Amino acid sequence: MAKLKVGILISGRGSNMAALIRAAQTTGYPAEIACVVSNREDAAGLDAARKIGIPTEVISHRGYPDRETFDRDVSAAFEKHDVGLVALAGFMRIQSAWFPEHWAGRQINIHPSLLPAFPGLHVQQQALDAGVRVSGCTVHFVTPDLDAGPIIAQAAVPVLAGDTEETLSARILRQEHLLYPLVVRWFAEGRIAIADGRASIRDIPPGASLLFSAEP
Ligand code: GRF
Repeated sequence: MAKLKVGILISGRGSNMAALIRAAQTTGYPAEIACVVSNREDAAGLDAARKIGIPTEVISHRGYPDRETFDRDVSAAFEKHDVGLVALAGFMRIQSAWFPEHWAGRQINIHPSLLPAFPGLHVQQQALDAGVRVSGCTVHFVTPDLDAGPIIAQAAVPVLAGDTEETLSARILRQEHLLYPLVVRWFAEGRIAIADGRASIRDIPPGASLLFSAEP
């Protein structure tokens, strides 16, 4: 069966991108990374992708008159590579409504909190400030409402006494690198559907869309 072609959008480090690339290199993985697009020339993730020979494109948002014009060019880059799923991986631009509508049900994001708690930025610090005992990450479909699309899967980690934004971020990030490839696999296998604004996953073991890690 033809593999699902995934397009990844980054703005920076690209560790989730790298996790998806690594997964796609494993035998039997049903998706391949067709291209990586960055809105920033200096995104560290670009070098990593180039080294492995993944096609990359820099589309700087600067110089575009508005968000939608930029979004349409990004979309065209993905379409050129026959992309069937867009995965946001640390992409730091708010999209115009056009992009999530055009890619409705075909665009996912990973966010470092247990949504709907703590949308937006600096979410690990938000979790620490709120005093929660559990945090984690969420993979969700992207809709025009920021960090609010149908939730597909989550991974939970403890928030420990003495945690800083750095230590909590690192603990969550380890789970992000497990969760994102898992969700892309399920998507590529055609298991994920959206109905009435909720995502469901067919034929996976009960609870498989929630990871727990007790590791410090
Ligand atoms: C991750 O924490 C992701 O959840 C958030 O942005 C960060 C990106 O990190 N959306 P990286 O660029 O994938 O290393």
